Amino acid sequence: MRRGLELAALGPAVGDHARVGAVILSPDGDVLAEGWHKGAGTPHAEVDALSKVDPARLLGATAVVTLEPCNHTGRTGPCALALLDAGIGRVVYAIDDPGAHAHGGAERLRAAGVEVVAGVLADEAEAFLERWLLSVRLGRPWVTVKWASSLDGRAAAADGTSQWITGAAARQHVHEQRAAHDAILVGTGTVLADDPSLTARGDAGELLADQPLPVVLGDRPVPAGAAVRRHPRGVVTLPGHDLAASLAALRGHGVHSVFVEGGPTVASALIAAGLVDEYLVYLAPVLLGGPRVALGDVGVGSIGERRRLDVLSTTSLGPDLLVRARPHRASVPADAVPGNAGSQNDRSTT
Ligand SMILES: NC(=O)c1ccc[n+]([C@@H]2O[C@H](COP(=O)([O-])OP(=O)(O)OC[C@H]3O[C@@H](n4cnc5c(N)ncnc54)[C@H](OP(=O)(O)O)[C@@H]3O)[C@@H](O)[C@H]2O)c1
Repeated sequence: MRRGLELAALGPAVGDHARVGAVILSPDGDVLAEGWHKGAGTPHAEVDALSKVDPARLLGATAVVTLEPCNHTGRTGPCALALLDAGIGRVVYAIDDPGAHAHGGAERLRAAGVEVVAGVLADEAEAFLERWLLSVRLGRPWVTVKWASSLDGRAAAADGTSQWITGAAARQHVHEQRAAHDAILVGTGTVLADDPSLTARGDAGELLADQPLPVVLGDRPVPAGAAVRRHPRGVVTLPGHDLAASLAALRGHGVHSVFVEGGPTVASALIAAGLVDEYLVYLAPVLLGGPRVALGDVGVGSIGERRRLDVLSTTSLGPDLLVRARPHRASVPADAVPGNAGSQNDRSTT
Protein backbone atom coordinates (compact mmCIF):
# COMPACT_ATOMS: atom_id res chain seq x y z
CA MET A 1 0.00 0.00 0.00
CA ARG A 2 2.89 2.32 0.74
CA ARG A 3 4.15 1.68 -2.79
CA GLY A 4 0.61 2.26 -4.05
CA LEU A 5 0.62 5.71 -2.46
CA GLU A 6 3.98 6.48 -4.07
CA LEU A 7 2.53 5.47 -7.43
CA ALA A 8 -0.58 7.57 -6.82
CA ALA A 9 1.66 10.61 -6.30
CA LEU A 10 2.97 10.18 -9.87
CA GLY A 11 -0.46 11.23 -11.18
CA PRO A 12 -1.25 14.89 -11.95
CA ALA A 13 -1.79 16.87 -8.73
CA VAL A 14 -4.55 19.00 -10.26
CA GLY A 15 -7.57 18.08 -12.36
CA ASP A 16 -10.96 16.44 -12.12
CA HIS A 17 -9.80 13.06 -10.83
CA ALA A 18 -8.57 11.26 -7.72
CA ARG A 19 -4.90 10.30 -7.61
CA VAL A 20 -4.82 6.53 -7.14
CA GLY A 21 -2.07 3.89 -7.25
CA ALA A 22 -2.26 0.09 -7.59
CA VAL A 23 0.09 -2.89 -7.26
CA ILE A 24 -0.71 -6.42 -8.51
CA LEU A 25 0.87 -9.28 -6.52
CA SER A 26 1.16 -12.95 -7.42
CA PRO A 27 -0.25 -15.49 -4.92
CA ASP A 28 3.37 -15.79 -3.66
CA GLY A 29 3.59 -12.05 -3.06
CA ASP A 30 5.78 -11.14 -6.03
CA VAL A 31 5.05 -7.80 -7.69
CA LEU A 32 3.55 -8.48 -11.11
CA ALA A 33 2.74 -4.91 -12.12
CA GLU A 34 2.22 -1.36 -10.90
CA GLY A 35 -0.19 1.25 -12.14
CA TRP A 36 -1.50 4.71 -11.42
CA HIS A 37 -4.14 7.09 -12.65
CA LYS A 38 -2.77 9.65 -15.10
CA GLY A 39 -5.74 12.00 -15.24
CA ALA A 40 -9.42 12.31 -16.10
CA GLY A 41 -10.48 10.10 -18.99
CA THR A 42 -7.45 7.77 -18.76
CA PRO A 43 -7.54 4.20 -17.32
CA HIS A 44 -7.92 3.95 -13.56
CA ALA A 45 -4.92 2.70 -11.57
CA GLU A 46 -6.14 -0.94 -11.27
CA VAL A 47 -6.89 -1.18 -14.98
CA ASP A 48 -3.53 0.41 -15.83
CA ALA A 49 -1.76 -2.22 -13.68
CA LEU A 50 -3.87 -5.13 -14.98
CA SER A 51 -3.05 -4.20 -18.57
CA LYS A 52 0.67 -4.80 -17.90
CA VAL A 53 0.29 -8.45 -16.82
CA ASP A 54 -0.11 -11.62 -18.87
CA PRO A 55 -3.81 -12.47 -18.20
CA ALA A 56 -2.89 -16.07 -17.28
CA ARG A 57 -0.92 -14.79 -14.28
CA LEU A 58 -3.82 -12.77 -12.88
CA LEU A 59 -5.89 -15.77 -11.74
CA GLY A 60 -5.96 -15.68 -7.93
CA ALA A 61 -3.63 -12.65 -7.81
CA THR A 62 -3.96 -9.83 -5.26
CA ALA A 63 -4.70 -6.23 -6.23
CA VAL A 64 -3.58 -3.57 -3.75
CA VAL A 65 -5.30 -0.21 -4.46
CA THR A 66 -5.21 3.08 -2.55
CA LEU A 67 -8.93 3.82 -3.16
CA GLU A 68 -11.89 1.41 -3.26
CA PRO A 69 -12.26 0.13 -6.84
CA CYS A 70 -15.06 2.07 -8.49
CA ASN A 71 -18.38 0.51 -9.38
CA HIS A 72 -19.65 2.83 -12.08
CA THR A 73 -19.20 3.51 -15.74
CA GLY A 74 -17.98 7.07 -16.18
CA ARG A 75 -15.36 8.05 -18.70
CA THR A 76 -13.98 4.51 -18.14
CA GLY A 77 -15.67 1.20 -17.15
CA PRO A 78 -16.13 -0.02 -13.56
CA CYS A 79 -12.84 -1.21 -12.04
CA ALA A 80 -14.60 -3.76 -9.82
CA LEU A 81 -15.78 -5.52 -12.99
CA ALA A 82 -12.31 -5.36 -14.57
CA LEU A 83 -10.84 -7.02 -11.47
CA LEU A 84 -13.54 -9.73 -11.52
CA ASP A 85 -13.08 -10.37 -15.24
CA ALA A 86 -9.33 -10.72 -14.69
CA GLY A 87 -9.88 -13.42 -12.04
CA ILE A 88 -8.29 -11.46 -9.18
CA GLY A 89 -8.73 -13.41 -5.92
CA ARG A 90 -8.06 -10.75 -3.32
CA VAL A 91 -8.41 -6.97 -3.24
CA VAL A 92 -6.78 -4.82 -0.55
CA TYR A 93 -7.62 -1.11 -0.45
CA ALA A 94 -7.09 1.88 1.84
CA ILE A 95 -10.23 4.04 1.84
CA ASP A 96 -13.81 3.81 0.67
CA ASP A 97 -14.78 5.78 -2.43
CA PRO A 98 -17.06 8.58 -1.12
CA GLY A 99 -18.65 9.23 -4.51
CA ALA A 100 -22.40 8.58 -4.65
CA HIS A 101 -22.06 6.72 -7.97
CA ALA A 102 -18.58 5.22 -7.65
CA HIS A 103 -18.81 3.50 -4.26
CA GLY A 104 -20.01 -0.09 -3.90
CA GLY A 105 -17.07 -1.70 -5.68
CA ALA A 106 -16.06 -3.59 -2.54
CA GLU A 107 -19.57 -5.02 -2.10
CA ARG A 108 -19.68 -6.10 -5.71
CA LEU A 109 -16.33 -7.87 -5.38
CA ARG A 110 -17.30 -9.57 -2.10
CA ALA A 111 -20.61 -10.70 -3.57
CA ALA A 112 -18.67 -12.36 -6.38
CA GLY A 113 -16.50 -14.28 -3.90
CA VAL A 114 -13.39 -12.09 -3.94
CA GLU A 115 -11.66 -11.63 -0.56
CA VAL A 116 -11.70 -7.88 0.21
CA VAL A 117 -9.61 -6.15 2.88
CA ALA A 118 -10.35 -2.45 3.55
CA GLY A 119 -8.64 0.22 5.66
CA VAL A 120 -4.96 -0.59 5.10
CA LEU A 121 -2.96 2.67 5.65
CA ALA A 122 -6.31 4.48 5.65
CA ASP A 123 -4.98 7.55 7.51
CA GLU A 124 -2.12 8.05 5.08
CA ALA A 125 -4.42 7.63 2.09
CA GLU A 126 -6.97 10.08 3.59
CA ALA A 127 -4.26 12.68 4.15
CA PHE A 128 -2.88 12.17 0.64
CA LEU A 129 -6.30 12.59 -1.01
CA GLU A 130 -7.72 15.15 1.45
CA ARG A 131 -8.61 17.87 -1.07
CA TRP A 132 -10.40 15.51 -3.44
CA LEU A 133 -12.18 13.68 -0.60
CA LEU A 134 -13.40 16.94 0.97
CA SER A 135 -14.69 18.22 -2.36
CA VAL A 136 -16.64 15.00 -3.00
CA ARG A 137 -17.99 14.80 0.57
CA LEU A 138 -18.98 18.47 0.93
CA GLY A 139 -19.83 19.28 -2.69
CA ARG A 140 -17.48 22.27 -2.73
CA PRO A 141 -13.78 22.59 -3.54
CA TRP A 142 -11.03 22.62 -0.92
CA VAL A 143 -10.32 26.31 -0.12
CA THR A 144 -6.83 27.63 0.61
CA VAL A 145 -6.72 31.33 1.52
CA LYS A 146 -3.47 33.17 0.98
CA TRP A 147 -2.45 36.65 1.89
CA ALA A 148 0.79 38.56 2.13
CA SER A 149 1.08 41.13 4.85
CA SER A 150 3.47 43.31 6.73
CA LEU A 151 4.45 42.18 10.21
CA ASP A 152 1.77 44.53 11.53
CA GLY A 153 -0.89 42.72 9.48
CA ARG A 154 -1.38 45.22 6.65
CA ALA A 155 -2.15 43.85 3.16
CA ALA A 156 -1.52 47.15 1.38
CA ALA A 157 -0.09 50.61 2.01
CA ALA A 158 -2.42 53.50 2.84
CA ASP A 159 -2.83 54.37 -0.88
CA GLY A 160 -3.89 50.76 -1.72
CA THR A 161 -0.60 49.70 -3.35
CA SER A 162 0.51 46.19 -2.36
CA GLN A 163 2.92 45.10 -5.10
CA TRP A 164 5.17 43.91 -3.65
CA ILE A 165 5.03 43.42 0.09
CA THR A 166 7.05 40.18 0.08
CA GLY A 167 10.29 39.25 -1.70
CA ALA A 168 11.05 37.09 -4.74
CA ALA A 169 11.23 33.73 -2.89
CA ALA A 170 7.80 34.20 -1.31
CA ARG A 171 6.29 35.31 -4.62
CA GLN A 172 7.75 32.28 -6.39
CA HIS A 173 6.27 30.05 -3.69
CA VAL A 174 2.89 31.65 -4.37
CA HIS A 175 3.19 30.79 -8.06
CA GLU A 176 3.90 27.16 -7.21
CA GLN A 177 0.84 27.13 -4.96
CA ARG A 178 -1.27 28.58 -7.76
CA ALA A 179 -0.16 25.73 -10.04
CA ALA A 180 -1.01 23.20 -7.32
CA HIS A 181 -4.68 24.25 -7.17
CA ASP A 182 -7.41 23.81 -9.77
CA ALA A 183 -8.60 27.43 -9.58
CA ILE A 184 -7.42 30.82 -8.35
CA LEU A 185 -10.05 33.18 -6.97
CA VAL A 186 -10.19 36.92 -6.25
CA GLY A 187 -12.89 39.54 -5.80
CA THR A 188 -13.56 42.33 -8.26
CA GLY A 189 -11.82 44.72 -5.83
CA THR A 190 -8.46 43.04 -6.44
CA VAL A 191 -8.95 42.97 -10.21
CA LEU A 192 -9.79 46.68 -10.29
CA ALA A 193 -6.96 47.68 -7.89
CA ASP A 194 -4.10 45.43 -9.06
CA ASP A 195 -5.05 44.16 -12.55
CA PRO A 196 -3.50 40.72 -11.80
CA SER A 197 -3.02 38.16 -14.60
CA LEU A 198 -3.78 35.24 -12.20
CA THR A 199 -1.38 32.96 -14.08
CA ALA A 200 1.15 30.58 -12.47
CA ARG A 201 4.64 31.63 -13.60
CA GLY A 202 8.23 30.49 -13.12
CA ASP A 203 11.33 32.47 -12.07
CA ALA A 204 11.75 34.00 -15.51
CA GLY A 205 8.08 34.90 -15.85
CA GLU A 206 7.32 31.91 -18.09
CA LEU A 207 3.93 30.20 -17.76
CA LEU A 208 4.05 26.97 -15.71
CA ALA A 209 2.56 23.80 -17.23
CA ASP A 210 -0.43 23.74 -14.83
CA GLN A 211 -2.54 26.88 -15.04
CA PRO A 212 -5.33 27.33 -12.48
CA LEU A 213 -8.74 28.41 -13.74
CA PRO A 214 -9.02 32.18 -12.95
CA VAL A 215 -12.23 33.10 -11.09
CA VAL A 216 -13.48 36.58 -10.19
CA LEU A 217 -16.30 37.03 -7.65
CA GLY A 218 -18.54 40.09 -7.58
CA ASP A 219 -20.97 42.21 -9.52
CA ARG A 220 -18.72 44.90 -10.97
CA PRO A 221 -17.67 44.02 -14.53
CA VAL A 222 -14.13 42.86 -15.26
CA PRO A 223 -12.81 45.55 -17.68
CA ALA A 224 -12.35 44.47 -21.29
CA GLY A 225 -8.65 45.30 -21.11
CA ALA A 226 -8.01 43.54 -17.77
CA ALA A 227 -4.95 41.26 -17.76
CA VAL A 228 -7.02 38.34 -16.48
CA ARG A 229 -9.01 38.43 -19.73
CA ARG A 230 -5.83 37.24 -21.48
CA HIS A 231 -5.47 34.20 -19.17
CA PRO A 232 -4.90 31.01 -21.25
CA ARG A 233 -7.86 29.27 -19.58
CA GLY A 234 -10.35 32.12 -19.94
CA VAL A 235 -11.74 33.91 -16.89
CA VAL A 236 -14.83 32.65 -15.02
CA THR A 237 -16.88 35.46 -13.46
CA LEU A 238 -19.35 34.67 -10.70
CA PRO A 239 -21.70 37.57 -9.88
CA GLY A 240 -23.50 37.84 -6.57
CA HIS A 241 -22.10 37.37 -3.08
CA ASP A 242 -23.33 33.85 -2.27
CA LEU A 243 -20.01 32.20 -1.53
CA ALA A 244 -21.33 28.69 -0.93
CA ALA A 245 -23.22 28.75 -4.24
CA SER A 246 -20.17 30.14 -6.06
CA LEU A 247 -17.93 27.39 -4.71
CA ALA A 248 -20.51 24.73 -5.55
CA ALA A 249 -20.70 26.16 -9.08
CA LEU A 250 -16.94 25.69 -9.44
CA ARG A 251 -17.36 21.95 -8.85
CA GLY A 252 -19.30 22.05 -12.11
CA HIS A 253 -16.08 23.24 -13.77
CA GLY A 254 -14.22 20.17 -12.43
CA VAL A 255 -12.57 22.25 -9.68
CA HIS A 256 -11.59 20.35 -6.51
CA SER A 257 -9.28 22.99 -4.98
CA VAL A 258 -9.29 26.79 -4.96
CA PHE A 259 -6.47 29.16 -4.11
CA VAL A 260 -7.96 32.43 -2.84
CA GLU A 261 -5.70 35.44 -3.30
CA GLY A 262 -7.93 38.10 -1.92
CA GLY A 263 -8.48 40.61 -1.32
CA PRO A 264 -9.38 41.29 2.29
CA THR A 265 -13.14 41.51 1.62
CA VAL A 266 -13.52 38.16 -0.09
CA ALA A 267 -11.03 36.40 2.22
CA SER A 268 -12.85 37.73 5.31
CA ALA A 269 -16.25 36.72 3.96
CA LEU A 270 -15.02 33.16 3.31
CA ILE A 271 -13.58 32.95 6.82
CA ALA A 272 -16.77 34.32 8.37
CA ALA A 273 -18.76 31.69 6.44
CA GLY A 274 -16.51 28.88 7.72
CA LEU A 275 -15.46 27.96 4.18
CA VAL A 276 -11.65 27.96 4.58
CA ASP A 277 -9.65 24.74 4.88
CA GLU A 278 -6.11 26.10 4.94
CA TYR A 279 -4.28 29.41 5.34
CA LEU A 280 -0.99 30.42 3.76
CA VAL A 281 0.16 33.68 5.34
CA TYR A 282 3.31 35.29 3.96
CA LEU A 283 4.69 37.74 6.52
CA ALA A 284 7.21 40.35 5.38
CA PRO A 285 9.57 42.05 7.87
CA VAL A 286 8.17 45.49 7.05
CA LEU A 287 5.71 47.79 8.79
CA LEU A 288 3.02 49.60 6.81
CA GLY A 289 0.62 50.87 9.47
CA GLY A 290 -2.59 52.50 8.29
CA PRO A 291 -6.06 51.17 7.64
CA ARG A 292 -5.45 48.45 5.00
CA VAL A 293 -5.55 45.41 7.27
CA ALA A 294 -5.27 41.88 5.85
CA LEU A 295 -8.73 40.92 7.10
CA GLY A 296 -11.91 42.80 7.88
CA ASP A 297 -14.99 41.39 9.58
CA VAL A 298 -14.53 37.63 10.07
CA GLY A 299 -17.53 37.34 12.38
CA VAL A 300 -15.60 37.77 15.61
CA GLY A 301 -17.28 40.25 17.96
CA SER A 302 -15.36 39.45 21.12
CA ILE A 303 -12.30 37.45 22.11
CA GLY A 304 -14.39 34.44 23.13
CA GLU A 305 -15.42 34.08 19.47
CA ARG A 306 -11.85 34.12 18.13
CA ARG A 307 -11.15 31.72 15.31
CA ARG A 308 -8.53 29.33 16.53
CA LEU A 309 -6.04 27.83 14.11
CA ASP A 310 -3.50 25.01 14.26
CA VAL A 311 -0.13 25.94 12.79
CA LEU A 312 1.15 23.13 10.54
CA SER A 313 4.49 24.69 9.65
CA THR A 314 6.53 27.87 9.59
CA THR A 315 9.02 28.30 6.74
CA SER A 316 11.57 31.02 5.97
CA LEU A 317 11.43 32.23 2.38
CA GLY A 318 14.29 34.68 1.94
CA PRO A 319 13.57 37.51 4.39
CA ASP A 320 9.91 36.52 4.69
CA LEU A 321 8.09 33.96 6.80
CA LEU A 322 5.36 31.59 5.60
CA VAL A 323 2.88 30.38 8.21
CA ARG A 324 0.73 27.43 7.12
CA ALA A 325 -2.31 26.94 9.34
CA ARG A 326 -5.69 25.24 9.40
CA PRO A 327 -8.88 25.75 11.39
CA HIS A 328 -8.44 24.26 14.85
CA ARG A 329 -9.48 20.61 14.62
CA ALA A 330 -12.25 20.86 17.22
CA SER A 331 -13.91 23.61 15.14
CA VAL A 332 -14.00 21.64 11.86
CA PRO A 333 -17.17 19.69 10.92
CA ALA A 334 -16.50 15.99 11.55
CA ASP A 335 -17.25 14.92 7.98
CA ALA A 336 -14.64 17.35 6.62
CA VAL A 337 -11.77 16.01 8.73
CA PRO A 338 -9.36 13.63 7.01
CA GLY A 339 -9.28 10.33 8.88
CA ASN A 340 -12.80 10.56 10.26
CA ALA A 341 -14.17 8.16 7.66
CA GLY A 342 -12.31 5.35 9.38
CA SER A 343 -10.24 6.18 12.42
CA GLN A 344 -9.02 9.33 14.15
CA ASN A 345 -5.72 10.74 12.99
CA ASP A 346 -3.85 13.87 13.91
CA ARG A 347 -2.64 16.12 11.17
CA SER A 348 1.11 16.13 11.18
CA THR A 349 2.89 19.24 12.37
CA THR A 350 6.26 19.92 10.81
N1 LIG B 1 -1.63 41.58 0.27
C1 LIG B 1 -2.36 40.72 -0.39
O1 LIG B 1 -2.15 39.50 -0.28
C2 LIG B 1 -3.46 41.21 -1.28
C3 LIG B 1 -4.12 40.31 -2.12
C4 LIG B 1 -5.16 40.79 -2.91
C5 LIG B 1 -5.52 42.14 -2.85
N2 LIG B 1 -4.83 43.00 -2.03
C6 LIG B 1 -5.21 44.40 -1.94
O2 LIG B 1 -6.56 44.43 -1.53
C7 LIG B 1 -7.18 45.61 -2.05
C8 LIG B 1 -8.55 45.22 -2.66
O3 LIG B 1 -9.37 44.82 -1.59
P1 LIG B 1 -10.87 44.36 -1.72
O4 LIG B 1 -11.29 43.87 -0.37
O5 LIG B 1 -11.67 45.42 -2.38
O6 LIG B 1 -10.73 43.16 -2.76
P2 LIG B 1 -11.57 41.84 -3.03
O7 LIG B 1 -11.87 41.11 -1.78
O8 LIG B 1 -10.80 41.13 -4.10
O9 LIG B 1 -12.92 42.34 -3.71
C9 LIG B 1 -14.01 42.77 -2.93
C10 LIG B 1 -15.23 42.69 -3.79
O10 LIG B 1 -15.61 41.36 -4.02
C11 LIG B 1 -16.99 41.30 -4.34
N3 LIG B 1 -17.60 40.20 -3.57
C12 LIG B 1 -17.89 38.97 -4.05
N4 LIG B 1 -18.42 38.19 -3.12
C13 LIG B 1 -18.46 38.90 -1.99
C14 LIG B 1 -18.93 38.63 -0.68
N5 LIG B 1 -19.46 37.44 -0.33
N6 LIG B 1 -18.81 39.60 0.25
C15 LIG B 1 -18.26 40.78 -0.07
N7 LIG B 1 -17.82 41.10 -1.31
C16 LIG B 1 -17.92 40.18 -2.27
C17 LIG B 1 -17.54 42.68 -4.04
O11 LIG B 1 -17.55 43.36 -5.28
P3 LIG B 1 -18.84 43.80 -6.16
O12 LIG B 1 -19.28 45.10 -5.61
O13 LIG B 1 -18.27 43.90 -7.52
O14 LIG B 1 -19.87 42.72 -6.04
C18 LIG B 1 -16.46 43.30 -3.17
O15 LIG B 1 -16.43 44.69 -3.26
C19 LIG B 1 -6.20 46.22 -3.02
O16 LIG B 1 -5.55 47.29 -2.38
C20 LIG B 1 -5.22 45.09 -3.27
O17 LIG B 1 -3.94 45.61 -3.59
C21 LIG B 1 -3.82 42.55 -1.24
